[in-house]
Amino acid sequence: MIPINRPIIGEEEIQAAIKVLRSGILTEKSGHGPFASKFEKAFADYIGSKFAVTFNSGTSALHAALLAAGVGPKDEVIVPSFTFVATAEVAVLAGAKPIFVDIDPKTYCMDPEEVKQAISGRTKAIIPVHLYGHPCDMAPIIECGHEHGIIVIEDAAQAHGAEYKGKKAGALGDLACFSFYATKNMTTGEGGMITTNSEEFMEKVRLIRSHGEKEPYKSVIIGHNYRLPEIEAAIGLVQLGKLPKFLEARRKNAMFLMKELVSVGGLQMPVEYSGCKHSWYLFTVRLKGARSKIRNKMVKKLREEYVGASVYYPIPIHKMPYYHDLFGKANLPETEEAAQQAISLPVHPAIREGELDHIVKAVKKAVASFAIK
Ligand SMILES: Cc1ncc(COP(=O)(O)O)c(C=O)c1O
Repeated sequence: MIPINRPIIGEEEIQAAIKVLRSGILTEKSGHGPFASKFEKAFADYIGSKFAVTFNSGTSALHAALLAAGVGPKDEVIVPSFTFVATAEVAVLAGAKPIFVDIDPKTYCMDPEEVKQAISGRTKAIIPVHLYGHPCDMAPIIECGHEHGIIVIEDAAQAHGAEYKGKKAGALGDLACFSFYATKNMTTGEGGMITTNSEEFMEKVRLIRSHGEKEPYKSVIIGHNYRLPEIEAAIGLVQLGKLPKFLEARRKNAMFLMKELVSVGGLQMPVEYSGCKHSWYLFTVRLKGARSKIRNKMVKKLREEYVGASVYYPIPIHKMPYYHDLFGKANLPETEEAAQQAISLPVHPAIREGELDHIVKAVKKAVASFAIK
């Protein structure tokens, strides 16, 4: 099977992990060990943000960002429903209500017009997600958010290296959160990072990362254990150095798939809007007009051909049992349509020569077999 994504770990990462084990410093009580500090500095430099703070997952980074933004009970947080559940989950963990908004059907990112409509007196934060690695249209979201005193937190879990109007994803909102989960564009196994230009937010998220302790055993705010272990930080530092090459390979693969599949009837190709740079975390096509039954059959057919096609995301968050029971219905037609039609294809740097041709052939065969025109 050509997997949809996989970690690419070399001898350098193995040696980096061994170095930490030999050093005996496996973690540091505030989360600020030697490798974590180096990783933070290098990541902030790469993104072009003033600060970066390591976390032990993208989810913990998002939760800490919301707490630092002061989100709590009775507040509302505007989020897309067409994303990984963590984006909305953290709003609920902070005691707030997620307000789901619809997407742009071409990029699958939150639609700024929908955000404007969803703002209320209770809105405390907006979390735009750079879905699949395409940057969300941030300018209008930041403008209307800031007009209302609302904090904008980028969910950049899938967007390492993506760009919007000359800036990197992660340097756009008040805070931004990255994931280093095993299959992301770069990995530490599990891990996360918050980037920000605000010293105040940087200090707050550092406190939250380790039990709200300013001094040992003296918590000043509510926190958690969200520290990234040193082994992961050392691996992250090596992966960050390789990220530009990983992204180049992803782009090359994406351009090949685009060129070969663009003329296939019935398929909507991914887009890269002017002024944007995709990070190509996922290459997601859409079966125009299809219902999920046909789409799922197509995924099955591709998998029979050893193409690890996958669906991100088959159930929008507002339709998941927990969220539906708590928050009821939402009117999100573009989201619901996309959830029935999206298929992601492998585009990662470890795809071997010949495998891309195989993916193209398998897609063409599968489309033809359903006579999708
Ligand atoms: C869009 C999005 N947000 C948040 C997360 C959560 O990151 P993590 O799995 O590192 O907790 C992920 C990744 O899985 C994601 O894809």
